[in-house]
Amino acid sequence: SIEQYKPEMRKASSGQMMRPNRKTNGSGVQAEDTRICVVMVGLPARGKSLIASKVVRYLGWLSIAAKTFNVGQYRRTNTPTPTADFFDTTNPEGERLRKAAAEAAVKDMIKWFNNGGGLVAILDATNSTKSRRRWIQERCEAAGIETLFVESKCDDEELIMSNIKEVKTTSPDYKGQDPEVAAQDFRNRIRNYEKVYQTLDEDEADLTYCKLINVGHQVIINRIKDYLQSRVVYYLMNLHIRPRSIWLSRHGESMFNLNGKIGGDADISERGELYARKLPELVKESAGDRQLTVWTSTLKRTIQTARFLPFEKLSWKALDELDSGVCDSLTYGEIEQLYPADFKSRDADKYNYRYLGGESYRDVVIRLEPIIMELERSENILIVTHQAVLRCIYAYFMGVDQEKSPWMEVPLHTLIRLTPRAYGTVEDRWSANIPAVSTWRGKGSSAKHQDTEASSRANSQDLAAPETKA
Ligand code: ADP
Ligand code: F6P
Ligand code: PEP
Repeated sequence: SIEQYKPEMRKASSGQMMRPNRKTNGSGVQAEDTRICVVMVGLPARGKSLIASKVVRYLGWLSIAAKTFNVGQYRRTNTPTPTADFFDTTNPEGERLRKAAAEAAVKDMIKWFNNGGGLVAILDATNSTKSRRRWIQERCEAAGIETLFVESKCDDEELIMSNIKEVKTTSPDYKGQDPEVAAQDFRNRIRNYEKVYQTLDEDEADLTYCKLINVGHQVIINRIKDYLQSRVVYYLMNLHIRPRSIWLSRHGESMFNLNGKIGGDADISERGELYARKLPELVKESAGDRQLTVWTSTLKRTIQTARFLPFEKLSWKALDELDSGVCDSLTYGEIEQLYPADFKSRDADKYNYRYLGGESYRDVVIRLEPIIMELERSENILIVTHQAVLRCIYAYFMGVDQEKSPWMEVPLHTLIRLTPRAYGTVEDRWSANIPAVSTWRGKGSSAKHQDTEASSRANSQDLAAPETKA
C-alpha cells in the first residue's frame, strides 16, 4: 500500500527506505518527492556562484524548478560596499550583519519551498565553518528539506587571482572603484576567510556532500541519498573550466526543406551541397587551428553536410530530428488539413505537444541530456544537427525558456559558435551567404517554405565575405 507522506520520512538516511509518493516531475525524469537545498561551501572566488548558476540552468532545462539564494545579495541590503575588514570574524558588527543576511536568505528559501516554488534551492554563500553548516542543516531538516553540501576547494593561487580579476573587480561590492584596488581588497577579504575556514571532513560524515578539489581533479562524495542528488553530483563531476567553444550548425538545405516537408531522411539539395563545401572554411575562420570533433545525427543530411570537415566524426541517434510521427514527410499545410486539431494544439503549446506516434520538444530534451553531459566534459565540439534539436541545445547554453525555445529562428547555412564564460555564454554567428529556404514557421501559419529575405539578397550578390555578428 502507498504510505502517506510524512516529513520525517525525508530525514532517514538509509538508502533502503521506502519512498512514498514517487512521482515524475512531468519532464520524464524520475525526481523523487524530495526537496533539496544545495549548500555551497568554500572560500571566495572558488567558482561557487558559477557552479550554482549552471546547476540552476541545467535543472531548469530538465523542467526541475530550481533557484539560487545568494547570501552576498542579501548582505548588500545592509552593507552594499564592504571593505575586507567587514569579513574579519573578530569584527562583531560584521559578524552580526553577515549572520542576518544568512538568516534572511534561509528564511526566503524555506518560504520558496513551502509555496511550491520548486525542488532544488541553492544556498550560495561561503558557509565556511562547521557551525554555520550545522545551523543550515538543522534549519533545513526542521523544514523537511534535504541538504547536499557542495564544496569547491582550490589552492591554485594563480587561478584564484585570475578569478578575482575576471569576476570580482566588477562585483557591485566594488562599484566605481579602481580594479587594482578592488582586487587587492578582495585578496584581503579571502585572507580573513582563510583564518576560520574549515573544509568538510570526517567530523561531518553524517552530512551528504560532494567535495570538488582543484576543479574536479579529485571529487569526494559522501552519503548521496537519492536520484536527484546523484544527478546533481554527476553533473558537477563533469564540469570543467578550460576555455572552449561549442559550434552548432544545421545540415545544409535538404530536398525536404525545399519542398516544405518535415522529417524524413532526404539528401541535401544543390545549395545544401554548396554549404557542405563551404563549411570547412567557416569553421577555419571561427576556430583557427583548433582540432574539433564533429558530431552529427544518424540522418543523411547531417552526415553529407559534415563530410568535408577534416576532423574526427561521430554520429549520434540522440541528435536525430524531433520525430514527427504520423506527420513525418508532410508539409505544414497538409498537417493543418489532415490533423487540424493537432495543428492548433501544437501552436498552443509547442514545447509540450507530442506528435501522434512521435515526440515533443520535452521528449527531445530528455534524450539530449547525455549529449549535454558529454558536451560539458568535452572541449571544442562541432555539432551538425537539425532545427528542433539545435533549438534544444541552444536553449541549454543560453538559458532560453520553454515558451520561447521552440519558436527560435535558427537559419540554415549559418554557423553558430557559443563560448561559455563566467558571466554568460557569448554567441557569434557566421553566415555562409548561400541561399536557402527558411524553415521557420510563425504561430498559426502553414505557408510553404520560401527563400529568406537575407538569402534572396545573398542570391543576387556574389557569395563573398561571411559576416560575423556578436
Ligand atoms: P565564488 O562564488 O566562489 O566567489 P565565482 O563563481 O564568482 O566564485 O567565481 C567564478 C570564477 O571561478 C570563474 O572565473 C570560473 O572560471 C572560476 N571557477 C569555476 N569553477 C571553479 C572551481 N571549481 N575552482 C576554482 N575556480 C573555479
Ligand atoms: O523543417 C525542418 C525541420 O527540421 C523538420 O524536419 C522538423 O519537423 C521541424 O523542422 C521542426 O521545427 P518546428 O518544431 O518549428 O516544426
Ligand atoms: C557575502 O557577504 O558576500 C557572503 C558570501 O557572505 P558569507 O561569507 O557570510 O556567506
